[in-house]
Amino acid sequence: MSENSMDKPNIVTCAAPVNIAVIKYWGKRNEELILPINSSLSVTLHQDQLKTTTTVASSRSFQEDRIWLNGKEEDITHQRLQSCLREIRRLARKRRNDGDPGLDSTGLSHKVHICSVNNFPTAAGLASSAAGFACLVYTLARVFGVEGELSGIARQGSGSACRSMYGGFVQWIMGQKDDGKDSLAQQVEPETHWPELRILVLVASAERKPIGSTSGMQTSVETSCLLKHRAESVVPSRMAEMIEAVQRKDFTAFAELTMKDSNQFHATCLDTYPPIFYLSSVSQQVISLVHRYNRHYGETRVAYTFDAGPNAVIFTLQQHVPEFVQLIQHFFPSDTNGGQFIKGLPVNSASISEDLKQAIGLEPMPKGINYIISTKAGPGPCVVEDPTQHLLGSDGFPK
Ligand code: DP6
Repeated sequence: MSENSMDKPNIVTCAAPVNIAVIKYWGKRNEELILPINSSLSVTLHQDQLKTTTTVASSRSFQEDRIWLNGKEEDITHQRLQSCLREIRRLARKRRNDGDPGLDSTGLSHKVHICSVNNFPTAAGLASSAAGFACLVYTLARVFGVEGELSGIARQGSGSACRSMYGGFVQWIMGQKDDGKDSLAQQVEPETHWPELRILVLVASAERKPIGSTSGMQTSVETSCLLKHRAESVVPSRMAEMIEAVQRKDFTAFAELTMKDSNQFHATCLDTYPPIFYLSSVSQQVISLVHRYNRHYGETRVAYTFDAGPNAVIFTLQQHVPEFVQLIQHFFPSDTNGGQFIKGLPVNSASISEDLKQAIGLEPMPKGINYIISTKAGPGPCVVEDPTQHLLGSDGFPK
């Protein structure tokens, strides 16, 4: 190898998905290792609509590890970034010492440049840390030539990130061990399992910046006895019921558990002292609309769930999407024309009957919802083979 080619960075680009929990993770038993007080379950969203793309370059000539997020250089000494870098390098070293001949031992000492972007606006208020840390860990693993179970490392970036390491329906098993070795994500069913299931992200116009999940759940663990009850006595059986509902593709059971679990999570936020409010008046209007819609048809056709912010994520079956979207547009009239209001998977137009409008009977909230992202369950992280997609140039700096 010539001097020149040895200095050329090794560059890998990967993409990873966002996930939305239907059984919520809220509360840690170990802050540093990010070990949860209960198991959780999520649906991985399709990367055509929502994903993080990350390029990692490693080179002998880099002086230090560096990171650029959405175009801006960020502090690499951030504790959770350091955990992920350290754990991947530790794993690579272990594999090499165990005699894996596939490992290039020189690369281990190389510093890395990391560049990451989202294909959705951060302002949309969607948790980007899950996709971000999942993508970081997946890409670093490729660069350092390590394979296998990586969700335990992604978990140390952000708890929910461990679930973004798999596609489809994913559980994060809380584990029992103090060292967290058994606190891992596992696929329950692949993304192809339930093709009729559709997901709508209703991006609400945010009034204020909500309290972050990390500090929010810390205060909940310290002050909420409802959270303790939930973790010990509600979630274990709910996890089992949810897994069964997913496996049987039982929409009614899936939808009811999803809504009840979201409501209980927000109840624990209110039980936190001082209380935390993530739901806005728009969120409450969406909740009412969903329940009135289901009541009108005498069956559970639509479910909502909310994370640490006001955006509703809606689950429904393909056949109900056009009417429900039309209903959202009616009760949350916007300035934008239809094309811009709905992003992602195309939605056929539909008409809604006067009967239905009356059954809903809510006062329209103009501009309450900015836009809808229409999507479905999708696959886990993947390597982006096309070198033109690298976010770092051959010099190892952002393009
Ligand atoms: C409400 O994973 O963002 O979205 O582990 O502190 O990084 P940290 O928290 P994070 O919490 C997500 C909380 C949630 C529910 C969920 O995704 O399960």
